[in-house]
Amino acid sequence: MRQKIVAGNWKMNKTLEEAHILTAELMGMVADEVKGNVITVLCAPFPYLLPIKNQLGNSSIKVGAQNCSEHDSGAYTGEVSATMLKSMAIPYVIIGHSERRQYFGENGKLLATKVDKALANNVTPIFCCGEPLEIREKGTHEALVKQQVEESLFHLNQEAIQKVVVAYEPVWAIGTGKTATSQQAQDMHAVIRQHIAAKYGSATADKISILYGGSVKADNAKELFACADVDGGLVGGASLKSREFVEIVKAIG
Ligand code: 13P
Repeated sequence: MRQKIVAGNWKMNKTLEEAHILTAELMGMVADEVKGNVITVLCAPFPYLLPIKNQLGNSSIKVGAQNCSEHDSGAYTGEVSATMLKSMAIPYVIIGHSERRQYFGENGKLLATKVDKALANNVTPIFCCGEPLEIREKGTHEALVKQQVEESLFHLNQEAIQKVVVAYEPVWAIGTGKTATSQQAQDMHAVIRQHIAAKYGSATADKISILYGGSVKADNAKELFACADVDGGLVGGASLKSREFVEIVKAIG
């Protein structure tokens, strides 16, 4: 059975104090209400990673970063490497979020290097792909997403690809309140899985968790997570509210 994962992407939100309050609320609720078959991840801003990790202690909730550098170390002011994440025992990192692609010019080749750096440091990459609205309207969304997956993941060997988590996040659904329908999500997740299967075989593709992201909320999570190829969610806005986020985590049960 594939691992189910619900990851909150806090993006650039919350003060440290607010982050601690949210984490404390989540720890109580997840322990009490969530069954053990789902991994919950909080992807926090870099300066909060260690304080939040320390706060979580041996809770079942994990912490993740939102990005890492393509370099190991050196004169790259403001950057954080996967080696540093490893040194803090951070188990997950989001790579290639559409906001990184859009605002920071990250392309498929660069993201392939970031994926390599994460894997080399035993940090699980949550690799994001997804099409903007104009591509969806043109009808070339499947081709683009396949290309994104190919460019940044298909250099990996059989063993390495199985360590990657994929997140499909249609750009038009991010922060817009406009969720993909469960059919649209399922269709694209199946396309991604088939594309991976065509290169690595279906036994390998069947092991890879593919998360859906884009306006996931408590009231649509159950339907999205019920899709055969949707193995969880990458949640932005709704992960900033403890009750809403826990309802989403519970929806996968
Ligand atoms: P929203 O859930 O706010 O649409 O954001 C999705 C996202 O970008 C998660 O990475």
